[in-house]
Amino acid sequence: MKITDYSRPALRFGMLFTSSTKGARLSRRIAVSRLTEWGYATDTAALLISELATNAVTHCCVPQRWFLLRMDVHRHRAGPDTLRVEASDSCADHHPKPGTPTDEDESGRGLLLVDALATTWGSYTRSPEAGVGKTVWAECVLEAVQCTADTRPR
Ligand SMILES: Nc1ncnc2c1ncn2[C@@H]1O[C@H](COP(=O)(O)OP(=O)(O)OP(=O)(O)O)[C@@H](O)[C@H]1O
Ligand SMILES: [Mg+2]
Repeated sequence: MKITDYSRPALRFGMLFTSSTKGARLSRRIAVSRLTEWGYATDTAALLISELATNAVTHCCVPQRWFLLRMDVHRHRAGPDTLRVEASDSCADHHPKPGTPTDEDESGRGLLLVDALATTWGSYTRSPEAGVGKTVWAECVLEAVQCTADTRPR
């Protein structure tokens, strides 16, 4: 059986955003609308995008920098399409680490949510050729939205 070639996604999106709350919000809005255009339901994906983008601008404290949001859709010979979301920021010294929040803690739940919803996730330091910093990634299964004609690009 042919194995999925992950270096050649069926659909790809990538854009740089300012490392700010506004940038994170904008990245989510644009990425979600792209997924909708591609014909997929966005609930799980939107949450993954939002958590990764928010973390990239919250925990990477290099001012005046950008972060890169990427989405790759993979089609498989058997099984549903899958999405890989990547948020690359400029900080390689700190990597994401899920916390153990108590009932009183108001934060520290984002990655627990990612861990629960993603099929797999992780982070790696970017190679010098790819740029400084690190990439945090998460993958999930995509659900095609029911429509009268299949408008997804092939
Ligand atoms: N992109 C990142 N760069 C550096 N550290 C990160 C990054 N993302 C997460 N972390 C680390 O992992 C911890 C847990 O992240 P998580 O998203 O679960 O919680 P939070 O962002 O602190 O709070 P919440 O997401 O609930 O608002 C963070 O407190 C931070 O120390
Ligand atoms: Mg968070």
